[in-house]
Amino acid sequence: MLQKLFSCLVVAAAVSAAGSGCKIGNVINKPVIDGTPVYWPPSWTETQPAPQLDKEQSCSWIVTIPRGYYAKLIISGKTTDKDSRFQTVDSAGNLIQTTQENMDPYFFPASKFTLAVSNEGSATFAFKVVWFLLPYVGDDAGIGPSGLVVNVTSKVYAIDYHSTDDLLTLMTFPADTKNYYSLRSALVFAGEGLSNYITNLYLLYQTKKPWISSDDAITIVNFEAASSNDNLLIQSSKYLTGIGEMVELHPQANSIYNGTVNGGTLMSSLVAVTDLPMQMIDVQMKSDATVTVYYGSPDSSTLNKTYTGAQLKNALPLSFSGDVVQFVVSSGKAVFTFKS
Ligand SMILES: *[C@@H]1O[C@H](CO)[C@@H](O)[C@H](O)[C@H]1NC(C)=O
Ligand SMILES: *[C@@H]1O[C@H](CO)[C@@H](O)[C@H](O)[C@H]1NC(C)=O
Ligand SMILES: *[C@@H]1O[C@H](CO)[C@@H](O)[C@H](O)[C@H]1NC(C)=O
Repeated sequence: MLQKLFSCLVVAAAVSAAGSGCKIGNVINKPVIDGTPVYWPPSWTETQPAPQLDKEQSCSWIVTIPRGYYAKLIISGKTTDKDSRFQTVDSAGNLIQTTQENMDPYFFPASKFTLAVSNEGSATFAFKVVWFLLPYVGDDAGIGPSGLVVNVTSKVYAIDYHSTDDLLTLMTFPADTKNYYSLRSALVFAGEGLSNYITNLYLLYQTKKPWISSDDAITIVNFEAASSNDNLLIQSSKYLTGIGEMVELHPQANSIYNGTVNGGTLMSSLVAVTDLPMQMIDVQMKSDATVTVYYGSPDSSTLNKTYTGAQLKNALPLSFSGDVVQFVVSSGKAVFTFKS
């Protein structure tokens, strides 16, 4: 009895999402005054729990973004059955589906994004959108054989990067490989300027593969500063010719960890971007394969040393430190064990 009364009170106190226009194809435009948020349901704010949706709802919103602006979206909500989900699609067609949202922000460039929810059973849902002016795009930076490590989410910025007559290869090294929502604020655009949006670093990291541009210039923009130390490695693709597989090494302080390349007939590279000193303490690889160590992209100007498997084993332990260290294996599988 008491419990029933209590749940009635909770329902009465919560914002109601019912009757707030849950239908397909709602359109939301930017309010005239910059920085004015739009909430759904309109009576919700982020200090409140997300309201209950009625069962069996399907709602969607097309949020328009004028040229010169980007939009920041936060969603609060949770679905409770396997057929229910939240979904966003950005202007490049990138789709994200989730079942729980805790207000970790999403960022979208012009000209629009769509947000949808569909639920069978009970679910909670609310969102907020705010539009902001795009940052100014700064001077372009050229990428040479050392590659470039960008502290990509620590401040707000937009910069053009180029590699004359060559493509660019991106690899993302999040500070925390399990929780990397901060990468959603960092967007990749093809060419110079912010007109050809491709994707964001959160989505690129999830592919577990390097991303290669289709042009000799890209623009990276970070819309919101985070306290996390996420790094982006930008390399000129010409130095990576002949490398079939690139694997990220994630050194951890005070621990022993492995880096494994699965090799094959092509070369493969184990890539570390870290400020921790690393000591290689063991290796398992074919004794007639070679490992070449580079401080930067593979190039004669960044070469440290080449070892056969047998020579490397004899030389251990070996210490390495530098912004970018690459271990390029000539062929076959190799497992390297490190200590930091
Ligand atoms: C990157 O930015 C974070 C946050 O501001 C800072 O703590 C860290 O030292 C920076 N890392 C480098 C390599 O500059
Ligand atoms: C690293 O790889 C070696 C060889 O495969 C294995 O014996 C060892 O348990 C691994 N260590 C860690 C920390 O994963
Ligand atoms: C190779 O790297 C090691 C460890 O950082 C360093 O001591 C050595 O001087 C480097 N050798 C060359 C030729 O760069």
